[in-house]
Amino acid sequence: MMKMLKNKLLGYVAALRYYRIVIDKQIRKYIREKRFANYVMEERLDTRLADVLELMQARIMSRSTYHGIKTLKSPIDFWVYQEIIFEKRPEVIVEIGTYQGGSTLALAHLLDQLGHGRVISIDVRHDLVAEIARRHPRITLITGDACEVYPLVKQSIGNEKNVLIIEDSAHLFDITLNILRTYSPLIPPGGYFIVEDSICHHGIKSGPNPGPYEAIEEFLAGNHDFVSDRSQESFPITWSPKGYLLRK
Ligand SMILES: C[S@@+](CC[C@H](N)C(=O)[O-])C[C@H]1O[C@@H](n2cnc3c(N)ncnc32)[C@H](O)[C@@H]1O
Repeated sequence: MMKMLKNKLLGYVAALRYYRIVIDKQIRKYIREKRFANYVMEERLDTRLADVLELMQARIMSRSTYHGIKTLKSPIDFWVYQEIIFEKRPEVIVEIGTYQGGSTLALAHLLDQLGHGRVISIDVRHDLVAEIARRHPRITLITGDACEVYPLVKQSIGNEKNVLIIEDSAHLFDITLNILRTYSPLIPPGGYFIVEDSICHHGIKSGPNPGPYEAIEEFLAGNHDFVSDRSQESFPITWSPKGYLLRK
């Protein structure tokens, strides 16, 4: 009982730390910066990539939506997800970090078009999830700390083997590494475990440090079944540098 309460509390602390990152002062300062107030691409072709990334991050964090639902997702990476999902046709997509359910609904809509598969989405809280996502027949919400609810997720997956995982939760080093180690056995050979926001301090200046990038490196150093498939970063902007982990 005490252990359950402690873990629940730790989950909430992680979520609170995450929301503090969302309103990172650096991002707000950046949007205010005069030199980008009226940014017009074709007149600013000399803009440094580092500045473009910060501008995109500000746009994602401040007003990115899917079907009107606030969604914290790089649209470039979501296109890559679409390519992977079309090619691999997962039976189950496990999304870790639901937030308001925008990305969950977008994934379910992709699966609708394929006529195949479902999404299990995990979060420490689901009270913010939009009704349309909550009611979608391909979506199952599992509430709780990702590592705590792993047995429930495994039970829900049952005999389905073709699993894709998208980790988009706290982005703290320890939590990301723990999630990678706990959930990676679910990925079949040839499948992907995608870790989001490894761009923190490896492209943008905000977010946890160490964060997902360092957790990926630590995970790969001790797990030779996975490689970072950098061919998925060919756009070449990504919010998941080194984060497309392919099971050999
Ligand atoms: C980046 S948001 C998810 C964004 C969403 N995937 C999207 O693209 O719009 C991160 C979410 O992870 C949740 N979270 C943080 N720590 C968690 C943990 N340990 N287990 C499960 N969810 C967690 C937070 O509550 C928050 O809703």
